[in-house]
Amino acid sequence: MPVLKPTIKNIKLCSNIINHGDVVAFPTETVYGLGADVFNENAVIKIFEIKKRPRFDPLIVHISDISDIDKIAHKPPERIKKLLKKFWPGPLTVILKKKNSVPDVVTAGLDTVAVRMPSNSIAFQLIKTSKTPIAAPSANRFTRLSPTRAEHVLKQLGSNIFVLDGGKTVYGVESTIIKYERGNIYLLRPGALSPEKIEKEFGKKLLMPVAGKIESPGQFKKHYSPDKKLIIVRDEDEIKISEDAGYISFKDRPLKKYRFSAVLSEKGDLYEAASNLFDILNKAEDASIKKIYVQRVPLNGIGFAIMDRLKRAEGL
Ligand code: TXA
Ligand code: MG
Repeated sequence: MPVLKPTIKNIKLCSNIINHGDVVAFPTETVYGLGADVFNENAVIKIFEIKKRPRFDPLIVHISDISDIDKIAHKPPERIKKLLKKFWPGPLTVILKKKNSVPDVVTAGLDTVAVRMPSNSIAFQLIKTSKTPIAAPSANRFTRLSPTRAEHVLKQLGSNIFVLDGGKTVYGVESTIIKYERGNIYLLRPGALSPEKIEKEFGKKLLMPVAGKIESPGQFKKHYSPDKKLIIVRDEDEIKISEDAGYISFKDRPLKKYRFSAVLSEKGDLYEAASNLFDILNKAEDASIKKIYVQRVPLNGIGFAIMDRLKRAEGL
């Protein structure tokens, strides 16, 4: 079924689907999302069912204007407002105190809600024409590879879903999730907006969530995984070459022969590497290999999010 070109007419069609209590997949600047009207509980339940996602894993709510916050959450603290003015629209998600208008199924019963304003123009228009905030997780099966192309959505969720096709997403890793508590910001999920950029604006180091203290449900040890074994290596010397092994290097072309090989960024550019990451992992998943070796990337900037995803894909 329908992969739709993102024309005004098709975006309107998808808004109608959302307003009728159904779901559509759409591109954002990070990954593709599977969206439903946040205020329609039954529509949101469909998302969990399609993704086979456990109900305790809360969703992110997408808005198209900063004033939409009022519909779903209480006013953000001043220091967070300053960050939103700087980084929205864009790949930053903030955890705010939720209003009762948001059904519990969206937030997995928490008293907070995750909010983000995407910069992708198709996502923006879809939210705007739907005239409602859109709850949307990544449009993949629970724990599996994130979708950075319309085809990845179909591959995982089947062809019964309408997908607005915006081509390959720009960042290729999900948004950065932060939570403000008593003068500090906790990094709940590394993502497309680097910690360094947030720290520069906030004027203070970000803190890591303390288990049991700061709620960060849904950040599972095994996540973002291909359906074959993934092993992180420093370089090719660590690889046991075999018939069924593939190799994804960071910037240098693999020297030896593999049944499958790819380079994340020949220039060694971390943004390019992030943008290619899930696209290449999807290709590796489809290749006739059993193991995928992936080379480490530097931890600075968006590299921190790439390594987070690789470690979870490795799932050790
Ligand atoms: O880039 C993105 O953020 C993409 C696109 C589609 O916008 N969305 C996305 O959603 O990555 P998802 O469902 O794959 O990840 C949402 C995660 C949850 O697993 C959880 O860790 C966190 O957001 N989350 C949601 N609500 C939360 C809350 N109230 N408190 C703490 N963490 C929350
Ligand atoms: Mg996800």
